[in-house]
Amino acid sequence: MCGIVGYIGPRDATAVILEGLTRLEYRGYDSAGIAVLDEGQIEIRRDSGKLERLKSLIQQCPLHGNIGIGHTRWATHGQPSARNAHPHLGSTGTITVVHNGIIENQLTIKEELSREGIRFNSDTDTEVIVHLVEKEFRQSGDLAEAFRKTILRLKGSHAVVMLSSEEPETLYTARIGHGGGIVLGKGEGEMFIASDIPAILSHTSDMIFLEPGQIAVVGKTGAELYTLSGKIVEERVHHVAWEAGSAEKGEYQHFMLKEIYEQPQVAVDTLSGRVDFSSTTVHLSDLDQSVENLDRYNRMVITACGTASHAGMVGKVLIENFARIPVEVDIASEFRYRDPIVDGNTIVLAISQSGETADTLAAMAEAKQRGALIWSIVNVVGSQAMRSAHGSLSMRAGPEIGVASTKAYLAPLLDLYLLGLWMGKQRGTLSEEKMKSAVLALRNIPELVASCLYQESNIRKVAKRLEQVSHCLYLGRGINMPTAYEGALKLKEISYIHAEAYPAGEMKHGPIALIDKDMPVIALVPRDPWYEKMLNQVQQVRARGGYLIVVATEGDDQIADIADEVIWVPETPWRLSPVTTVVPLQLLAYHTAVLRGADVDQPRNLAKSVTVE
Ligand code: G6P
Repeated sequence: MCGIVGYIGPRDATAVILEGLTRLEYRGYDSAGIAVLDEGQIEIRRDSGKLERLKSLIQQCPLHGNIGIGHTRWATHGQPSARNAHPHLGSTGTITVVHNGIIENQLTIKEELSREGIRFNSDTDTEVIVHLVEKEFRQSGDLAEAFRKTILRLKGSHAVVMLSSEEPETLYTARIGHGGGIVLGKGEGEMFIASDIPAILSHTSDMIFLEPGQIAVVGKTGAELYTLSGKIVEERVHHVAWEAGSAEKGEYQHFMLKEIYEQPQVAVDTLSGRVDFSSTTVHLSDLDQSVENLDRYNRMVITACGTASHAGMVGKVLIENFARIPVEVDIASEFRYRDPIVDGNTIVLAISQSGETADTLAAMAEAKQRGALIWSIVNVVGSQAMRSAHGSLSMRAGPEIGVASTKAYLAPLLDLYLLGLWMGKQRGTLSEEKMKSAVLALRNIPELVASCLYQESNIRKVAKRLEQVSHCLYLGRGINMPTAYEGALKLKEISYIHAEAYPAGEMKHGPIALIDKDMPVIALVPRDPWYEKMLNQVQQVRARGGYLIVVATEGDDQIADIADEVIWVPETPWRLSPVTTVVPLQLLAYHTAVLRGADVDQPRNLAKSVTVE
């Protein structure tokens, strides 16, 4: 989705904004632009394509100033082109805006403004904002009021930042609805605005997150926050404890690879302070406050999108097993429109890396309205999904830049394991012995995850077999059925190979018809309670001449005889096996994509954070 950066302070705004936009490249975009107040005049540079094009344009025609806004665009209304790129300038040349999201009533506004003689210079919905502000400003002469009134007219979910030469020391920004997050960064005598934390993390860790329906008037020394009705809101500054370096690629060729390699550390961070190995207990202080008596809840719904929903599928197995409460997993975009059966006895758990996915936020709002207890597991501290839940667990994965999620899949697997234990303890469904062995099983997890990485050169060889194929089938059962879904998603996201995942028991009801020598089958066959069943299934693939790649537990000679290729994972207690089995599938997708020359960190058509429906 679109990226936004704004700056006001003593530095050269162009440099700060371009640096911020570069850090947001991972979100996916098709054009970019920047506006700076240069000697009292708004100067704009924008172009289609990658940021490099904008940068060379700026080199040819530099622009200097201490206040400005920038944008990377993901086309929704109008082709990706220089004329549709943001910032958009009004007719007077004194007001310009950048915007993320969709204005649902843009046609009505456009018609109204056209009747009044306004000429539009782009095909975007965004342009209506700047003309509306100009119209209001002409009438009242009050820019703050003109901005507020304009924002009130816009329907939909979005974020806006405005720069005007009428007020050269102020930036205006607003967040409407659940889409388009806005974060303000506080520096010494300077302020930053961004759609995402990594854009400004190298400058400050002190962040203010705008809530939906809030406006901020931002000056060099701070910001004033208001509701849409003009009431002052007290700001809350969050200290974001991510290291600036964690949003850099370093020695790795791609962020995705770096993030795969960070997973042992993510496991350490996720467990530390939450698991006490000596007393074999689990502490989730982040959730303690949110609920008095868990016994009143008779059902749990996990809602999420994409990779996060696969983590939720593993969570279902874990929470049902530990806490003996029925758990359903519901894709957020389906849940929100299905008139879901949720009441005061239901726990709704949302899982989201970004904490800003529009469908997930809407599902949470829907469930909250129906009286459910809302929990979330979120990576981005201070994000909407964290703030709007009654209780929230932080993923502790650090910034994830690669569009294809990796470490933010592994982290919630462990969070869900801990949540299951924590709930099981409170609900009295866990024997002391089971609790003890489940907690102790966590002790070696970081090491086990690390040892999966040693398979990389073997996996690179296996990837060569996938390089030329057009289709793949992923099979898994039980707790590793979601691993099959996640493995297939990774492959299709970044290598553009069609990959389908199936619960292996369903193979005989259809997909078996696809098996031949040209259909590689990637099967998850670790030593878990479904092992014998999976063995049976892979034999069936073998018998039909399918090319068989198996993820199996080290030392399993039986599987080595059947499979064409084996990728080994270390012996892992079955409830934790998804934490190890997914790592080779991430590496397999990664190396296949690299071999095919695909853009691993910014796959086509995808965005890291989907803040529109
Ligand atoms: C996008 C991303 C996926 C992600 C999904 C949910 O589709 O490309 O990687 O899994 O959104 O995002 P969330 O931030 O809610 O986990």
